[in-house]
Amino acid sequence: MCGITAVAGPGDEDVVDVLLGGLRNLEYRGYDSAGVATPGDGGVSVVKREGGIDDLASALDAAAVAGSVGVGHTRWSTHGAPTDANAHPHTDCDDRVAVVHNGIIENYSTLREELLARGHSFTSDTDTEVVPHLVAERLAAGASAAEAFRDTVARLDGRYAVAMVVDGEDAVYAARDGSPLVVGVGDDRRFVASDVPSFLEHTADVVFLEDGDVVRVTADDHVVTDADGRRADRDVNTVDWQPEDAERDGFDHYMLKEIHEQPAAVERAVNGRITAAGGVDLDGFPPGSFGDVDDVQIVACGTSYHAALYARQLLAERGVPTQVFSAGEYATTPAPVGDDTLVVGVTQSGETADTLASLQAAADRGARTLAVTNVVGSTAARTCDDALFIRAGPEIGVAATKTFSSQVATLTLLAERLAEDVTGSVPEERAAVLRALERLPSDLQDVLDRAAVEPLAAQFRDRDGHFFIGRGVAYPVALEGALKFKEITYEHAEGFAAGELKHGPLALVTPDTPVFAVFSGRHDDKTLNNVEEVASRGAPVVGVASEESTDVVDAVDEFLPIPDTHPVAAGVLANVQLQLVSYHVADLLGRSIDKPRNLAKSVTVE
Ligand code: G6P
Repeated sequence: MCGITAVAGPGDEDVVDVLLGGLRNLEYRGYDSAGVATPGDGGVSVVKREGGIDDLASALDAAAVAGSVGVGHTRWSTHGAPTDANAHPHTDCDDRVAVVHNGIIENYSTLREELLARGHSFTSDTDTEVVPHLVAERLAAGASAAEAFRDTVARLDGRYAVAMVVDGEDAVYAARDGSPLVVGVGDDRRFVASDVPSFLEHTADVVFLEDGDVVRVTADDHVVTDADGRRADRDVNTVDWQPEDAERDGFDHYMLKEIHEQPAAVERAVNGRITAAGGVDLDGFPPGSFGDVDDVQIVACGTSYHAALYARQLLAERGVPTQVFSAGEYATTPAPVGDDTLVVGVTQSGETADTLASLQAAADRGARTLAVTNVVGSTAARTCDDALFIRAGPEIGVAATKTFSSQVATLTLLAERLAEDVTGSVPEERAAVLRALERLPSDLQDVLDRAAVEPLAAQFRDRDGHFFIGRGVAYPVALEGALKFKEITYEHAEGFAAGELKHGPLALVTPDTPVFAVFSGRHDDKTLNNVEEVASRGAPVVGVASEESTDVVDAVDEFLPIPDTHPVAAGVLANVQLQLVSYHVADLLGRSIDKPRNLAKSVTVE
């Protein structure tokens, strides 16, 4: 979705440079238009452009925008096409107020009609523009900027985060209700942003605002008031992300860097969570934590949904009744929950609207909720009964990579804890699973060190379609492989349960449709039958399997090896090979790898 950044007190730096830096760090949230605004005496200065941050930077070269506070925005359009006029910030009729916004204002058309009737004129098609006009009306009626902002925010329905500057004031006003917003607390400057990486190079001290909060931020202070207008004390948390985590570090793309970060990310996910005695030590979840759980429902979107399907395999094998739902569906048609149903939301960002709505629906029905997320202080982490962190570090590339591996590692540990608590017994297989998890970082490094997928990428860069198949844990890996492929190459790709092939998709298989067959080491013989089915129709087959699987080597045209390990870890390793295939095909095709067209990393609207 859109990214908001704002600064009060840029110090020695030019306010525009700080805002552009903050926007570049948030570009993964939206990249179809961008803009900045600073207040002066007698009006706000606004520069905004269709296109990416570089287009905005060029426009700013020729503009005189200065000041000691400012707001910026990078947009992923929902209301109104990506044009200069629809880019944020938006202003009132007299250019006294400039506003940036993320989310949707559901009652904007009613508000707009009212404002039009009172003589306001609008210059954009956005829902956002009602905000500066409403603020300006209250200012004209004698309200202070703080009062005008609070009164306006109180009139908005929907899920939003907004930030505002007003002429003549060295302050940023901001509010959230349903969309993320954080305050960065530096020594002599403060920031407001949709996400921490925006200002991480300046400070790691963060206030996570809550729904209903309104904040006034100046260079040396921030005052938060809650939904009732009372002063609210919000803790300052120090996040343990490093500024370099959010930089490209010599890699051509964030995605490639993040693919290579998987050994370290999984190491962090597992570190300290496996005891010397071969038990699971999940911070905050001692043995028995889930003793009263009867069944598990998991809700998630995109890559997180695939990690959830992966976890379901293990839970099902362990005898824990588990269902996985696409959060967009669960949010509209929640599944029945019992008194002892645990509903787990798997969400990297902790801000995906469908997942949050599903968790809320489950909580409303009395279910216990658990967020499995990457972001401490995210909405999911704060609103669920409990949170478990995947510790992947910031992920900037829109296509999720390292967070999938970290989710699977963390969910595997959670599954072991759940299985023990729910069934009252420790499965014999646990020791092998935990050993494989402990080895996973070095196995991942091995795949990365030995991977050589470029020739294969060149061979399959321009085909009619690309199919991915697998069963067991290899099934969600097939889905994830296809998702990654379509997200960043823009080529047609589909993932199937290997057993489903002959129930329809086989009709599409030709010599021009490479099939990527994923093997986890379990049920491989059945998947080999499916390989036969496609090979006999002339499709080239790429096998991703243990380097020791001679059966697979013999059956396929191309082979991508992974170290021999437990199936739970094999799927994660196979996925890395598929990530690299997608990356290199996209690179050969010259695609916008870190910011694929039409996609955003954090989807904060349903
Ligand atoms: C977007 C991103 C995907 C991500 C999905 C769920 O679609 O582009 O990469 O998997 O959202 O995000 P979440 O933060 O909930 O894991």
